[in-house]
Amino acid sequence: MAFLYEVFLLTFVGSLVGAQVINWGRCPDFSVEQNFNTTAYLGTWYEIEKFPARFERGQKCIQATYELEDTGHIRVTNEGIDIETGEATSIVGDAYAPDPNEPAKLKVRFFWWQPAGDYWVLRTDYHTFSVVYSCQDFFGIVRAELAWILSRERTLDAIVLDSLLVNLEDMGLNINYFQSTNQTGCDEGQAKPSWDREEEHYLIFS
Ligand SMILES: *[C@@H]1O[C@H](CO)[C@@H](O)[C@H](O)[C@H]1NC(C)=O
Ligand SMILES: *[C@@H]1O[C@H](CO)[C@@H](O)[C@H](O)[C@H]1NC(C)=O
Repeated sequence: MAFLYEVFLLTFVGSLVGAQVINWGRCPDFSVEQNFNTTAYLGTWYEIEKFPARFERGQKCIQATYELEDTGHIRVTNEGIDIETGEATSIVGDAYAPDPNEPAKLKVRFFWWQPAGDYWVLRTDYHTFSVVYSCQDFFGIVRAELAWILSRERTLDAIVLDSLLVNLEDMGLNINYFQSTNQTGCDEGQAKPSWDREEEHYLIFS
């Protein structure tokens, strides 16, 4: 009985936030990039590594573009290519920093009915790499985690990537969950746009 309850809880939490990394315990309070400069962070980032997430499943060439709106919010455009069909997918979301004293702790959502998810910039140098972390816990009992390593280009120097992974491991993140994103054959222009929404596009994503 207790076991069934646990399975139910983990499955429920996972489907709620689209994360596939679900563990016991509350979210860690990782330190974020100090003096985060939102303006310098704008523009396009390419996904190099990610924690598995339902809403990114089966996609390659994943990228995100951040643009500042008049409201001070950030317009987020996530794009990818469906590996099976070759079709381009895209979704637009809204991000903002609820606390001006914590500009690296952003919230993002893609549908008005969604609770906004965390988008914490743990580390970035603005022109090469960015490390993003998102965690949601439920009553401090179960947590769902998402993480991304992003690059300003479709590749990231292996030495830079390794040092970021070492850093994250030292912080206490389980880096074994990371999966590489395929960023090859992306600029061949054969992708067809599609506004298909049949897959569930739950919550947050870089
Ligand atoms: C933030 O970044 C922008 C664009 O790179 C730059 O012009 C600005 O001076 C930076 N602000 C601070 C406070 O460093
Ligand atoms: C990445 O995508 C390219 C182009 O579609 C494909 O040729 C290659 O096999 C893929 N690599 C992996 C590791 O799936």
